[in-house]
Amino acid sequence: MNHYKKHFLLDPDITFLNFGSFGACPKPVFEVYQKIQMSLEREPVRFIVHDGIQALEAARKELSKYVNCHSDDLVFVTNPSYGINTIAKSFPLNKGDEILSTSLEYGAMDRTWEYYCNRAGASYVKQEIALPIKDKKTFLEQFWSGYTNKTKAIFISHITSATGLILPVEDICVEAKRLGLITIVDGAHVPAQIPLDITALNADVYVAACHKWMMAPKGSSFLYVKKEQQHWVDPLLISWGYRSDTPSHSSFLDYHQTNGTRDFSAFLTVPEAISFMREHNWWQVASDCRDMAIKNATRFCELLNSEPICPLTPEFLAQLYSIPIQTSDPMGLHQRLFHEYKIEIPVAVQNGRTFLRYSIQAFNTPSDLDRLEQAILELKKQGNLL
Ligand SMILES: Cc1ncc(COP(=O)(O)O)c(C=O)c1O
Repeated sequence: MNHYKKHFLLDPDITFLNFGSFGACPKPVFEVYQKIQMSLEREPVRFIVHDGIQALEAARKELSKYVNCHSDDLVFVTNPSYGINTIAKSFPLNKGDEILSTSLEYGAMDRTWEYYCNRAGASYVKQEIALPIKDKKTFLEQFWSGYTNKTKAIFISHITSATGLILPVEDICVEAKRLGLITIVDGAHVPAQIPLDITALNADVYVAACHKWMMAPKGSSFLYVKKEQQHWVDPLLISWGYRSDTPSHSSFLDYHQTNGTRDFSAFLTVPEAISFMREHNWWQVASDCRDMAIKNATRFCELLNSEPICPLTPEFLAQLYSIPIQTSDPMGLHQRLFHEYKIEIPVAVQNGRTFLRYSIQAFNTPSDLDRLEQAILELKKQGNLL
């Protein structure tokens, strides 16, 4: 048994190859989470209006240090959808404006932008990115071919969902600045999978999950907005922080942190998740996982008669790897892998193509991928996969 397995509560009967969809909490992080919820239940009023708020500030500071930004420019939100909805709803869109994005974005985010663009008579432009991606230069040329004089902002994933690709957002942010565009980055998969330095990236908006690769409890994510851009970002939910009677030094914090009654224990657990990673030298773990993800890519592409969707290098890949597959029944394949082979792995469909995406986390071993290979071989024999 891999020695990291003991730190997780995951069902030992399941081969868990889907950390990308929802991370799992290490036991010490989950224990702190439960302790925090216990103090909330012991004295709800004191916790919600005083002790919890102080702890929230400390957690925000810890997280800001981890992603390198000013702590006044980041707020906890429950999930990346909340963060992107906040931005898309407030973004000053006029008739005819365009938001430039890619054909590789997460479906829920596409829907969000389409909704708000439609309302304003603006367009959400999903610039087609051809797969396989040949190199960074080709990617950037394809992406920028979607730019017009109506483009107002860029919306792009730092790591894509269905395809698990690291996109060159650093280059995009530099060029976008030169063109005077607002940059909105969806970094749902980024924190703790690859190093994140928000200040160096210089994006205007960055949204990410703490409940994926950072391993904090579900319902912990953040929204970062650069100080100069905060003035147009209204709260998604209007509460006491809007036109507050007791304003703090930052209306950004007042607007977006006050959300009515809620259990914000998951946010308060983030410092524990960060110390767990520090204690266990997590960047080494992440690098070992990335090596395993990349080293096995060719064998699965060969097994499934497909081409890798990008160069097999850390420039494009970290702990996720998506193999293009051919099946007439993606949902059925997912069900069979889970129910018959006890393998938790997503089968995603995007732009008419189907991908089987494995995630490699600390507790995964080569035998997990052997099990996947075995299952694929059997399914191929039965004619379920080409
Ligand atoms: C790239 C990307 N963006 C956004 C999200 C949205 O996350 P949520 O549904 O938790 O808001 C996900 C979820 O997996 C994602 O992969």
